[in-house]
Amino acid sequence: MKLLEDKIRTDGVAVNENILKVDSFINHQVDPSLMLAIGEEFAAHFKNHGITKVATIESSGIAPALTCAMTLGVPMIILKKQPSKTLNSDLYQTIVTSYTKGTSYELTLSSKYISSDDHVLIIDDFLANGEAATGALRLIRKAHATIAGIGIVIEKSFQPGREKLISQGIEVFSLARIKKLDVGTIEFMDEE
Ligand code: G4P
Repeated sequence: MKLLEDKIRTDGVAVNENILKVDSFINHQVDPSLMLAIGEEFAAHFKNHGITKVATIESSGIAPALTCAMTLGVPMIILKKQPSKTLNSDLYQTIVTSYTKGTSYELTLSSKYISSDDHVLIIDDFLANGEAATGALRLIRKAHATIAGIGIVIEKSFQPGREKLISQGIEVFSLARIKKLDVGTIEFMDEE
C-alpha cells in the first residue's frame, strides 16, 4: 500500500535491525485518515470472504481493525491481554509469549461474542514472530469459529511470522512488507 509505505519512509524510525518505531502514527499517536485508508484496503481485499467479525489483539490493532470492521459493516472484537489466569467458564483463554518483548500474557475472549457461526478476519498492527497471531488463531478455533484470514499493517518479512501462519493454511495479507531494517534504513519487499 503506497500511502502506508510513504508514511513509514517519512515518519517511521528504524531503531535497529529488528525494531521499527511507528509511534507517531500507529502505536502512540494515531493518524485517523491513514487508519481509515488501511481499513478500507483490508475490507476491499477480504470483502468476498463472508466475514462476520473482525478480531484484533489489544491495543495497537484496535484502530485498523475498527476501520476495517466499519467498512465491512460487521462487529469488531478485541482479544484482551489478561495478566493472570481468571477461572471463568465463559472465557476462552490461551497463553501467548512475545519474543519481541520477552513477556507472556493470557489472551482472552468471552464466549458471548463469538460462536461456531462466525467467520473471523484477524487484524493486527505488526507481524514479527507470529506468536500473537498464532494465539489469536488458537482462541478463535477454541470457539469453533472459522478463520477468513489475517490482515497485517506492517509485516517484518525477515522474521518467521508469515511462514508460521501460511504453513497452517492461513491467508496472510500485509499492507507493508519490510525486507530489511537497519539504523536509518527501511527496505520494502517490492524494492530492489
Ligand atoms: P512475537 O511474535 O515476538 O510475539 O511478536 P508480535 O508480532 O506478537 O509482537 C509482539 C509485540 O511487539 C506487539 O505489540 C507488536 O506490535 C510489537 N512489535 C513487534 N515488532 C515491532 C516493531 O518492529 N516495532 C514496533 N513498534 N512494535 C513491534 P504488543 O505487545 O501487542 O503491544 P500493543 O499492541 O499494545 O502496542
